Amino acid sequence: MRTEQPKMIYLKDYQAPDYLIDETHLTFELFEDHTLVHAQLVMRRNPERVHEAAGALPPLVLHGQELELLSLSLDDQALEAGDYRLDDNQLSLQPRQARFVLDSSVRIHPERNTALEGLYKSGKMFCTQCEAEGFRKITYYLDRPDVMSRFTTTLSADKQRYPVLLSNGNPLATGSEEGGRHWATWEDPFKKPAYLFALVAGDLWCVEDAFRTHSGRDVALRIYVEPENIDKCQHAMDSLKKSMRWDEEVYGREYDLDIFMIVAVNDFNMGAMENKGLNIFNSSAVLAKAETATDAAHQRVEAIVAHEYFHNWSGNRVTCRDWFQLSLKEGFTVFRDAEFSADMNSRTVKRVEDVAYLRTHQFAEDAGPMAHPVRPDAFIEISNFYTLTVYEKGSEVVRMIHTLLGAEGFRKGTDLYFERHDGQAVTCDDFVKAMEDANGVDLTQFKRWYSQSGTPRLEVNERYDTEARRYSLTFRQSCPATPGQPQKQPFVIPVELGLLDPAGHPLPLRLEGEATAAGSNRVIQVTEAEQTFTFLDVPAKPLPSLLRGFSAPVKLSFPYGRDQLMFLMQHDSDGFNRWDAAQQLSVQVLQELIEAHRRGDALVLDPRLPEALRSVLADDSLDQAMVAEMLSLPGEAYLAEISEVADVEAIHAAREFARRAIAEALYEPLLARYRANRAESQRVAYAVQADQIARRSLQNIALSYLMLSARPEILEACLDQYQHCDNMTERLTALAVLVQSPFEDDKARALEAFAEHFKDNPLVMDQWFSVQAGNPLPGGLERVQALMGHPAFTLKNPNKVRALIGAFANQNLVNFHRADGAGYRFLADQVIALNALNPQIASRQLTPLTRWRKYDEARQGLMRGELERILASGPLSSDVYEVVSKSLA
Ligand code: TRP
Ligand code: ZN
Repeated sequence: MRTEQPKMIYLKDYQAPDYLIDETHLTFELFEDHTLVHAQLVMRRNPERVHEAAGALPPLVLHGQELELLSLSLDDQALEAGDYRLDDNQLSLQPRQARFVLDSSVRIHPERNTALEGLYKSGKMFCTQCEAEGFRKITYYLDRPDVMSRFTTTLSADKQRYPVLLSNGNPLATGSEEGGRHWATWEDPFKKPAYLFALVAGDLWCVEDAFRTHSGRDVALRIYVEPENIDKCQHAMDSLKKSMRWDEEVYGREYDLDIFMIVAVNDFNMGAMENKGLNIFNSSAVLAKAETATDAAHQRVEAIVAHEYFHNWSGNRVTCRDWFQLSLKEGFTVFRDAEFSADMNSRTVKRVEDVAYLRTHQFAEDAGPMAHPVRPDAFIEISNFYTLTVYEKGSEVVRMIHTLLGAEGFRKGTDLYFERHDGQAVTCDDFVKAMEDANGVDLTQFKRWYSQSGTPRLEVNERYDTEARRYSLTFRQSCPATPGQPQKQPFVIPVELGLLDPAGHPLPLRLEGEATAAGSNRVIQVTEAEQTFTFLDVPAKPLPSLLRGFSAPVKLSFPYGRDQLMFLMQHDSDGFNRWDAAQQLSVQVLQELIEAHRRGDALVLDPRLPEALRSVLADDSLDQAMVAEMLSLPGEAYLAEISEVADVEAIHAAREFARRAIAEALYEPLLARYRANRAESQRVAYAVQADQIARRSLQNIALSYLMLSARPEILEACLDQYQHCDNMTERLTALAVLVQSPFEDDKARALEAFAEHFKDNPLVMDQWFSVQAGNPLPGGLERVQALMGHPAFTLKNPNKVRALIGAFANQNLVNFHRADGAGYRFLADQVIALNALNPQIASRQLTPLTRWRKYDEARQGLMRGELERILASGPLSSDVYEVVSKSLA
C-alpha cells in the first residue's frame, strides 16, 4: 500500500543502470508461516556508464518491497545498520570496488500474499509472478528488464507437501534434508531479467511428451497440474507441439533448453506468464476437455499456450530495455499468436473475432481517460499498462509492418532483429530499425503509430467521371485529441482495397501514373491529411471494398447505402469485408431503431436486414462459422462505443427488438439449420476441429434466436440439448439461453443441476457465474449480489471476480447502468474491497466506471460520485490511484 504520493515515471528519464548483475544465486527455504530467501549477487559497474562521474563509484540502489532484511554482506563483510539505507521501496549502499559480491537474506510471507505478485500460495502450492515488478517482493535486486543475469536457484521444502520443486532452466541436482525436507537446484544458462524468474513447489502431477527440434535436439515437455486435472492437459500439450513446429517453420526459431514446463495454477492475475523454461498459467488457460470447456475456451488455450511459447524468442531471448517498450514483446507476440491461430483454424473467422474485440474494447480505451500510445511515455504503475492498446493495437501495428513489407520482407526483418539483438534488452525503435535495414525502407513516419494515441478516423469519398473512365477516392485522416496529445500528425495508413464492377466482379486496378493494371487487390498508403487516389480505365461506376482484412486500426467511413452493403455481403472477394458489410448494415439498422426508441416511436425493422441474413443462411458455399458471425448482431458494448452518448436502455431495447424480429422472419430456416446441425452433433463424437466448431457455432446462434420465440417445441429442443450432449459448448449455450428466457422453473432446475454436477470444478463454476451475471432480465444486480454469497465464490480468486463482477459490469449493460446508480455503487464497493487484497485486479475491475463521459448527465454524476468515493476511501494502491485520478482529471 502507498505511503507517499505515487509519482509519475517518464520514458524521457531513462538511464542505463549503474551496476550489472552477472550471476544471481538464489536459495529459498519454504515454510508454512514464512519463507527465507538468500540471494548472492555477483555484480560489477556497468562499463557503459563508467565514463560518467569518473573516479567515485555511484551508490548502489536496489529495489525491495515488503522484505524483512535479516542480513547483508558485501564481499563477505557483514554490513551494519549504518552501512546502508533502507526505506519502503529500496536499499542503498556504497560499494567500495567496481566488482563485488553482495549477499542478502530476507524473510517474506507468501502465505499472506493476496496480491498474487512475487512469491505466493495458490491453494496448496507455492508459485511466483514477477512481471512486471514483482521480483522486488522476493529479494533486494535491480528489478528492471535491462539488467540481465545468469540464475541458479535452490529451493527446499517439506517433501510430502511439496514433492515437486521447479525453477527456470535445467535441473542440476536434488537431495534430501533432515526433518522430512528435500531440495532441488536449477540452472538457467541464458541471461534473463528478473521478471522472467519463476519457482513452483507443490504436489503436482504431470503429463509428459517430447519434441524433436528442427536441428534434431530432443526437448522434454511437461505440463504440471493438480492431480484432479490430469485428464484436461492433452489439448494444451497438442497446442504446445504445434506452436513449437510453427515457430520453426514460419520464423525459423528453435527452442533452446532441454526442457519446457507449464504449470497450471488457480489463482492468477492474468492469462499466463512466459518465465524462461517454466511458464506459469492460469488454469483457465491450460485445462480443457470436451465436457468442461467450450470451443472458445479450447481456442483460447491454444492461443495462450502459443503466445507464451512464442515469447521464448520475442520477449525472452530478446527482451525489453524498459517497461515503456512493453509492446515490443507483447504487440509482436500477439501478432505471432494471431497468425498461428489463423493458420491452425479459419483465418477469416480469427480476424473477424479479433477485429470485433479491438473495435469494441481497444477503441473505447483509446477514447477514454487512460488512452495512451502503444509505447506510453509516462506511467505511475506499470501493471496498469498491460492494456488492449499495448497488446492488441500493438499487434495491429506489427501487422501493418507485415502488410507494408510483405511476408518475405517481414521475415527478413525478424531474422535480422533476432540475430542482431539476441541476448539484449532493446526498444521498439530497434525493432523498426531491423525492419528498415533488412528491407531498405524508411519507416520514420510510420513510427507515429508508436507515439501517438487515439484511433484515427479515415473518411473516404468517391468521384466517378463516366467520360474519362476515372474513379477517384479521396481519403481524409484525422485523430481526436487524447490526454496529453491535443494535436496529431498524419499516420501512414495502409489501405488494402479492391473495386467491384456492377456485376460484382473485381476490376483490374491501374492507378494514375501506372502504365498497366496490377492485380485487383492492392495496398495503398495514405500518408497525408488529405490524399486522392485515381484509378484509370474504369468502365462503369464501381463499388469500392475498403480496408480489406482491416488493414489498419482506424475508424473508416464511406457513405455506403444499405443496398450497396448487401451487394458487398454477397460479392466481395474478401471474406472479412463481407462480414464487415453485414456489420455495417446491422449498425445502420440498429442505430435507426435506437433513435426511434429514444423518440418514443414504434420500432420497425428494415426488412433488408433479415432478407440479407436469409440469403447468408441459405448460402451453402459459406463457412458455417462465417454464417454464425454474420448472424451475430454487433454487441451492445460496440453500439455504445460508436454512440456519441450511449443510451444503454435504447441500445438494449433496439437490439432485442431486432433479434426478435429476425427470429420471427427467419424462424423456418433457423429451425431447419438448427435441427440439421444438432443432429450432426449427436451423431459424431466431439472434437476440436474447425468444421465441428463452425457447425456448433451456427447451431448455437440459431438456438439463441429460436428461443426468443418462446415456443414450447424450442424449449424442448433447448432442454434436450442441455441434457443430452457430450460437450460444454452445447451445454453452456443451452443453459445461457434458458437463463435469459421466461421459463423460470426450467431455468432454476437447470442452474441447480449444473452447479450440483460441477461444484468441484472451479473453472466450470466460473462459467456458471458468468452466465447468470450476464443475464439482462430485470433484477440483475440482486442476482449478482446473491451469488457473491455462494460458497464457490471468493473475492480472493481473480477468475471468480472476473466471472461474476467483471461479467456483470462489462456484459450486462442494462443492469449495470441502472438509472439509480446501484450498479455503480456495487462495483465501487468491490473495487474498494479488492484494493486491499489485490490491487491489479481492483484496478482492472474499475474500467467500466472510468468510461463515465459516454453516458447521460445523471449517470455521469453517479459514476463520478463513485470514483470520488473510491478516492476518499483510504490509502489506495498505486494501481487504483492512477486509474481513478486520471479518470477524474
Ligand atoms: N507477459 C504476460 C503475457 O504473456 C503478462 C502477464 C502475466 C502479466 N501475468 C502478469 C502482466 C501479471 C502483469 C502482471 O502477456
Ligand atoms: Zn505476452
